[in-house]
Amino acid sequence: MKILITGGAGFIGSNFIHYLIHTRPDWEIVNLDKLTYAGNLANLKDVEKDPLYKFIKGDICHPADVKKAMAGCDMVVNFAAESHVDRSIEEPGSFLRTDILGVQVLLEEAKRIGVKRFVQISTDEVYGSIAKGAFKETDSLNPSSPYSASKAGGELLARSYWVTYGMPVIITRAANNIGPYQYPEKVVSLFATNALENKELPVYGDGLQVRDYMHVYDHCTALDLILKEGKFGEIYNIGAGNEMPNLEMAKFILRELGKPERLIRHVTDRPGHDRRYALDCKKLRALDWQPEYDAEQALRDTVRWYAENRWWWEPIKSGEFRQYYERMYGKR
Ligand code: NAD
Ligand code: TYD
Repeated sequence: MKILITGGAGFIGSNFIHYLIHTRPDWEIVNLDKLTYAGNLANLKDVEKDPLYKFIKGDICHPADVKKAMAGCDMVVNFAAESHVDRSIEEPGSFLRTDILGVQVLLEEAKRIGVKRFVQISTDEVYGSIAKGAFKETDSLNPSSPYSASKAGGELLARSYWVTYGMPVIITRAANNIGPYQYPEKVVSLFATNALENKELPVYGDGLQVRDYMHVYDHCTALDLILKEGKFGEIYNIGAGNEMPNLEMAKFILRELGKPERLIRHVTDRPGHDRRYALDCKKLRALDWQPEYDAEQALRDTVRWYAENRWWWEPIKSGEFRQYYERMYGKR
């Protein structure tokens, strides 16, 4: 089996590569990644010498890069994306390019060479916000940000290749992931590393927005199952049911690290901020999947990883990140 992982130098992609190397030691893995600000080969330092793993630096929007990387592959899992809502509010163009056009370039090449399975990694954010209950795969899409609108475009295109050309496409919509190697712009990695540096935790608005904070390991086990048993043309929600309001999450992180609650600072809210995400995951659970981590376990494991791996995040926070932080939070 030869599998193409795109965006494998990012947070979830690199965790999935680690997962596959442990669970499928005979699979050949190709990682195509552009190495944007969010791509980091340090995430894969321990696997780079594996003879069955190959890294290719390239862009999913460039047909020549995609052709080279996909050659001989049986399966494709597309993680590559611009992934941060706040950056999409600042500059939507790169989101439309990678998250929609890039998907089309991948689908075209996969069609041309007859890939046997194409998994498009999408997000719960395509549904928009839900006050009560949980979204089912059949619910309508109401994305709120340029990020989620682009992801909706990418997955609709993937679905159209199933309907029109009978391509073996599967779409997954995952909840907020947390865990090792997450670029410290996302809330949990930002709050954990800020707390470790005795810096403030910027909570947007009242902090009562709710997210399902799922451990990335649980996302990996779900994807593994979907690769084996998922049906073509189907959509699978992937969530752990770990709902927690942001303010509670911030307080939990501070308690875990023995830091004072006065580090919490309420700042101006995000425009178009979705209040709550929640997924109905009966379809995935019917495949006999269940998460290993509840909310507190997932947060505790994540916070511990950042406390023990300063070598990984300290260089990131001293680079491009500083200008980003100033732009995003300086006047907030
Ligand atoms: P990330 O930002 O950490 O990583 C994205 C990776 O894609 C980076 O390595 C980057 O270099 C690469 N990339 C970006 N543009 C590229 C291009 N044009 N060509 C090739 N590579 C490119 O993102 P993540 O958090 O690991 O998310 C991975 C996927 O999962 C994304 O598709 C995202 O929409 C989806 N997702 C993420 C979450 C989450 O909580 N992080 C939840 C649900 C779905
Ligand atoms: P984020 O990690 O950006 O994921 P998403 O918006 O894609 O769900 O944000 C998660 C939640 O945390 C969201 O409600 C916004 C909030 N948040 C803050 O309160 N402060 C921050 O500095 C960030 C980045 C996010």
